[in-house]
Amino acid sequence: LGQIKAGEDAPGLAVYDPGFVNTASCRSSVTYIDGEKGILEYRGYPIEQLAEKSSFLEVAYLLIHGSLPTKAEYEAWAHEITYHTFVHENVRTFMQGFRYDAHPMGMLMASVGALSTFYPDARNISDAENRHIQMVRMIAKMPTLGAWSFRHAQGKPYVYPDNDLGYTANFLSMLFKMSESKFGADERLVKALDVLFILHADHEQNCSTNAVRSVGSSQVDPYSAVAAGIGALYGPLHGGANEAVLRMLKRIGTKENIPDFIKGVKEGNERLMGFGHRVYKNYDPRATIIKKACDDVFEVTGVNPLLEIAQELEKIALEDEYFVKRKLYPNVDFYSGLIYEAFQFPPEMFTVLFAIGRTPGWLAQWSELVQDKEQKIARPKQIYTGDRTLDFVPASERW
Ligand code: ACO
Repeated sequence: LGQIKAGEDAPGLAVYDPGFVNTASCRSSVTYIDGEKGILEYRGYPIEQLAEKSSFLEVAYLLIHGSLPTKAEYEAWAHEITYHTFVHENVRTFMQGFRYDAHPMGMLMASVGALSTFYPDARNISDAENRHIQMVRMIAKMPTLGAWSFRHAQGKPYVYPDNDLGYTANFLSMLFKMSESKFGADERLVKALDVLFILHADHEQNCSTNAVRSVGSSQVDPYSAVAAGIGALYGPLHGGANEAVLRMLKRIGTKENIPDFIKGVKEGNERLMGFGHRVYKNYDPRATIIKKACDDVFEVTGVNPLLEIAQELEKIALEDEYFVKRKLYPNVDFYSGLIYEAFQFPPEMFTVLFAIGRTPGWLAQWSELVQDKEQKIARPKQIYTGDRTLDFVPASERW
C-alpha cells in the first residue's frame, strides 16, 4: 500500500492511528476481550471461573501452553517453578547497589534486564526447550526480585525463598517475615493475592504487552523484552493507576468532598483515576471480582476507611451523565489499591505486584510472537511533519 503514491515525494497510502486504536499489530490466541459486553477470557476460559476455581500457577500454565495441565503436567510445572525461585548471588549484590529510596519498580525493571546477562543462552529463542526454561525462570524469580525490591526500600535484609511454600505464600514470606506481619500466614490473604495475580495475568495488547512484543520482535532475549514491558507498566496511565487511585482517595479525604472533586474532573482539571478503559466500555469484569476479594481481605485486616469513599465515588460517578455518556466505569485498578494497602504494601509496590501477575501473559505473548512466522519486526510508519531539504549553515557562520 505504501507504494500507492500521489506524487514522487508523497509518503504513500498509510493509516494514521496514534495509540493503535484501530490497528491490530498481531494475531493472537491467548486472551479474548469483548469490551462492550465486559467479557475477558484466557485461552477461552472466563476470568470469573479461573479466579474462583483455579490457581495462579495453573493459569500461568494455561496461558503459556494454551491448554489446562493434567495432574502430572501441573506437578512437573509447579516443581520446575519452585526449583528456580533463587537468583544468582550477584543479582542480590546488584540490587543492593540501588539508592536506599529507589522505587521498587525501577529496581525490578533493572534486575529483570540484568538477568539477560546471567542467562546468555536465552538469546537462542528459536529453540523451544530453551524458550521454556527461560519462561520458567522468569515466572519463578519475579516474586524473589519483587520482594527484594520491597525489602530494599524498607532497609531490611532480603529474605530468601522458602520452597516448602506455594508460589504466592512464598512471595508473602519473602516480603513480610512472619514475625513482622500479623497477617502474613492467613490463608485467606494468600488466596486473595493469588486471585489478584490471576486477574492481572494477561490482557491482550495492552501497553506493556505491546512493549514486550515490540521489543521481542527484534528477536532479543525474553528478559530484555519483559524489562521493556515493566517499563511500560511503570507509567501512571497503565500500571501506576492504582497507586494514583489511592492518592486520589486520600486527597478527597471524606465523602463530603466528593461532589467538589467530581466537579473538577468534569471541568477537565484531572481524571477520576481507576475509571475508564481503552477497551472496556462496560464494567471491567476484573473490577467485580476484586470487589468481592476486598470483602475477604478486609475480613482479616479490618476495613480500610477509604473503601467508603471509593464506594460513594463509584455510586455518584455511575449516575453522572459525564461518565455515563463516555462509558466510564471502574477498572481493575479502582479497588486493587485498597486491597494492597490492607496488606500494608506501600503504594510504590503496587505496580510490582501487577508485574508479577502479568509475567505469564507477557511470556505467553512473547512465545506466540517468536513462533509466528508472519510476524515482522515492529516498525510503524509515521506521518512526517518537519521541515525538508534545508541548507545546513556551519556553526561558525551562524553564530
Ligand atoms: N476521568 C475523567 N474523564 C475521563 C477519564 C477519567 N478517568 N477517562 C477518560 N475520560 C474522558 C476523556 O477526558 C475523554 O473525554 P472527551 O471525549 O470529552 O475528550 C473521553 O473520556 C475519552 O477518553 P480517552 O482518554 O480518549 O480514552 P482512552 O481510551 O485513550 O484512555 C484511559 C483510556 C487511559 C484508561 C483513561 O480512561 C484514563 O486516563 N483513565 C484513568 C487512568 C486509569 O485508571 N488507568 C488504568 C487503566 S487500566 C490498566 O492499565 C490496568
